[in-house]
Amino acid sequence: MSASKFIDTKRITVHVLAEMKAVGEKISMLTAYDYSMARIFDAAGIEIILVGDSASNVMAGHETTLPITLDQMIYHASSVIRAIKRCLVVVDLPFGTYQGDSRKALASAIRIMKESGAHAVKLEGGAEVKTSIERILSAGIPVMGHLGLTPQSIYKFGTYTVRAKEEEEANRLRKDAKILQKLGCFGIVLEKIPAALAGEVAQSVNIPVIGIGAGPLVDGQVLVMHDILGITKDFSPRFLRRYLNLFDEIKGAVEHYIGDVKSRDFPNEKEQY
Ligand code: KIV
Repeated sequence: MSASKFIDTKRITVHVLAEMKAVGEKISMLTAYDYSMARIFDAAGIEIILVGDSASNVMAGHETTLPITLDQMIYHASSVIRAIKRCLVVVDLPFGTYQGDSRKALASAIRIMKESGAHAVKLEGGAEVKTSIERILSAGIPVMGHLGLTPQSIYKFGTYTVRAKEEEEANRLRKDAKILQKLGCFGIVLEKIPAALAGEVAQSVNIPVIGIGAGPLVDGQVLVMHDILGITKDFSPRFLRRYLNLFDEIKGAVEHYIGDVKSRDFPNEKEQY
């Protein structure tokens, strides 16, 4: 593991992230949705925890990110906030809470900040959510953008395949990244786009660009916690690196426990009062 120049930094802020980009240190980001996991990730030194609306999939079992509500996001975010000491916590604005109505967007972002104690919000889209971003920023709330594959638009896309392979969509993405920077976003997530395009976008803006399935030429990487820990078993996109196989490990442990209960091995003499 290569050492971080920011190891002694007590709190990761959006300014620290900008500095990291400026000196070329890669930024690590993971999703988390609960107190116990967030505590471990923060202790490990992760720079950003994203309370992603992927909670809709991995925590609640929905097929898409669309059903999760603002109240549910606030519940997850406040659990994460209670756990962390150092990292920056970014919370996704869920589907339907910011599109098409900038006043509603601001009210949603304020609820997240006030009720969870989070440090920033993330929302999907470029030019089409410009007024929502402007209004949220006007209240002093840091905003992260999200371009490329934007899962809240899955029914428009039709599939979860790589985005911006065609020049027209790539050009729109290039322009949107510039718009997000100009508006004052502190960073951008680029999801599932060609590595060369992601690298070009990261070079073209001076705010950190964090990739997921966007190759190595960006300023940092984000993955979903359940995927890197192998809790999700059947989701194996090319961009994913699994560090554990927790589905099988946990299943094995639970099978062991069931066996011990059935055989009366548990509890033994020392495991009782
Ligand atoms: O909700 C989420 O987990 C995300 C990441 C995939 C970036 O937005």
